[in-house]
Amino acid sequence: MSALAHKTAKTDLRVFDVESVRGDFPILSRTVHDKPLTYLDSAASAQKPQSVIDAIRYQYEHEYANVHRGAYFLSETLTSKYEAARETVRQFVNAESDREIVFTKGATEAINLVAATFGRSLSSGDEVVITGLEHHSNIVPWQLLRDQCGIVLKVVPITPEGEVSLSAVESVLSKKTKLVAVAHVSNALGTILPIKEIISAAHAVGAVVLIDGCQGIVHEHVDVQDLDCDFYAFSGHKLYGPNGIGVLYGKEDLLDAMPPYQGGGEMISNVTFERSEWAELPAKFEAGTPPIVPAVGLGAAIDYVAGFDQRAIAAHEDDLLKYATEQLQALNSIRLIGTAQNKTAVASFVLEGAHPHDLATILDRSGVCVRAGHHCAQPLMDSFGVTATVRASFGMYNTREEVDVLINALGRAREILC
Ligand code: ALA
Repeated sequence: MSALAHKTAKTDLRVFDVESVRGDFPILSRTVHDKPLTYLDSAASAQKPQSVIDAIRYQYEHEYANVHRGAYFLSETLTSKYEAARETVRQFVNAESDREIVFTKGATEAINLVAATFGRSLSSGDEVVITGLEHHSNIVPWQLLRDQCGIVLKVVPITPEGEVSLSAVESVLSKKTKLVAVAHVSNALGTILPIKEIISAAHAVGAVVLIDGCQGIVHEHVDVQDLDCDFYAFSGHKLYGPNGIGVLYGKEDLLDAMPPYQGGGEMISNVTFERSEWAELPAKFEAGTPPIVPAVGLGAAIDYVAGFDQRAIAAHEDDLLKYATEQLQALNSIRLIGTAQNKTAVASFVLEGAHPHDLATILDRSGVCVRAGHHCAQPLMDSFGVTATVRASFGMYNTREEVDVLINALGRAREILC
């Protein structure tokens, strides 16, 4: 049983009640343009509960020092907290060992780390497989690698609904496939990919699998041992934690075999002018002063989220998406972009005749925060024949009433723009 499943089975979990949850997020009570804040951009970055804000503040006020370097109380205290945060992450994703949890400054850095290190084991003609709905951070690092060493980048096409079918993935896999790098959940559409099946199919041809879990870690139950993924990357700021912190989970044998990512302090065991030897995992991949307080803040965020039954949060977010989808479909001139059967927390759409940026600017006057643009997924936008969409994305603190605010504001915006 995973740590999370164990937690779920326990009876000391807090009952999920959205009004009570909202009370934990101080920013949600502010106004914008004299209107209550309606924050529907959690896929870009989630708001922070008081416990995370308090944890960060406490470190700077009472316990701040560098970690792993000081033989004095403050440094030892914060080192313990930093490593405790690693253990919290380990339990949250059910990794076997905390040697498999590398702190990075974000998911983008985690993916680049794999491209720059594992990628060095690839050679000309080896194939890396991605899908048509990837975020730029899971496209560009592989293009850079292609330009460096001649790998072939293969793209699994998506369906008109924005889905990735297992058969489409299988059709591009071959003995030449060395790495499959796919999103768990599309940031632009909300599509949930069948990653367990994809991982199994990739392993069958001998490929290693990296999951971009930026959105997945927030909305889906993640058990890296059950998934059997080789790498799982995510950032803290979408998981109600601070920004400037991300996680790369990697299987220990793979991380052990990979060369370091960056050189510097703490990633070595011995340095001479002739040569250097590397520190044990995970320090080998954490050169320089790490994001200490953000890591502690991430630990607090996970403690907050894991204090609830994860199924209750997911059910709430699913209800919001279903309600929002019905309301949007009932509006004239709205076209939903991405209608996968299996999706979560993201409603992407265009209003015919209006530019998404204009729409988002008008919505802002009603206190509604949405993201408009290509969502760092330009090839995906191309496949839908649009340059941009408006994206409303939901977190654990959103309500049906906020969906109503969005819909009413959209109605007014349509009168202005169309
Ligand atoms: N990747 C983030 C988003 O989807 C920033 O908005």
